[in-house]
Amino acid sequence: MSDGPVVSGQLKKFVFRGKSLNNGDTRGDYLEIVIPELLSAGYSFYTWPSAPLLAWYLWSQRKNLRGLRILELGCGTGLPGILAAKCGAHVTLTDSVALPRSLHHLSGCCEANGLIPGRDVQILGLAWGLFLADVHNLRPVDLILASDCFYEPSQFEEVLSTVAFLLDGTDSRFLCAYQERSTDWSIEALLQKWGLKGALLDLDSLSESSGIDYRALVGDRSLHLLEIVAV
Ligand SMILES: C[S@@+](CC[C@H](N)C(=O)[O-])C[C@H]1O[C@@H](n2cnc3c(N)ncnc32)[C@H](O)[C@@H]1O
Repeated sequence: MSDGPVVSGQLKKFVFRGKSLNNGDTRGDYLEIVIPELLSAGYSFYTWPSAPLLAWYLWSQRKNLRGLRILELGCGTGLPGILAAKCGAHVTLTDSVALPRSLHHLSGCCEANGLIPGRDVQILGLAWGLFLADVHNLRPVDLILASDCFYEPSQFEEVLSTVAFLLDGTDSRFLCAYQERSTDWSIEALLQKWGLKGALLDLDSLSESSGIDYRALVGDRSLHLLEIVAV
C-alpha cells in the first residue's frame, strides 16, 4: 500500500435524498457530500464503489444514527462515516497509521463537508490487527463500518481480529460493503475462528422497502453488504 505522489485531483459529489425506512417521510431529507479525490498511487485518496453502497444503506437508516458511536475502518476518503456524522452520529474515522498523507487527506474530506476533525469527527491512525493503546480506548462502539476492506486475502484476518476485539461481549454490529473479486476467497473459516457470524443483506428486499435502487448502485460489479456480529 502506497501513500504515493499526487497525479491529479477532482471533486466528487454524492447526493442523498428520499424516504426514511422509519416513517416514509421525505420532507427535508437531502444531503450533499463532496469528496476531494486525488488520483494518486494510493488506494485511500479516492472513493471505491463499495463506499456509496454502504453510504446509501446508512442513509436509509439515518433516523437511527443520531447519537450512535460509530467507528469506520480503512475509511480512505470516508464517505460512509462522513454521512453518518452529518446524520448526528459520533464518528471516529480511521485508516492505516502508516499512511499519514492519507489521514491528512481524510481531514480535508471532512472539512469539505463542514466537519472539523477533533470537534465534529475524530480521525485516528489504526492498523488492522495491531492492538496498540489507542485501539483499547475505542471501545465501546455501537457500529463498526468498512467499505472495500476485504480486497487482499492476506489481510482478511487482520481486519476480522480487530472487529472481533471491538465487538467482543457486545451486541454491536460490523457493517461492511465489499466487492467480490474472486469466488475462491472466503472469510467463513476466519469468522468461526474469531467468534463472529455474518449475514448478507438482501439488496432486492432493501430496494423494495426503501425505494433506493441498490441494483443501479451495484451496476455490473459484485458488490455486497454484509453484517457481522459476535456469536
Ligand atoms: C480499497 S481502499 C477503500 C477505501 C474506502 N473505504 C473506500 O471504500 O473508498 C482500502 C483502504 O484500506 C486502508 N488500509 C489498507 N491496509 C490497511 C491496514 N493494514 N490497516 C488499516 N487500513 C488499511 C487503505 O489505506 C485504504 O484506505
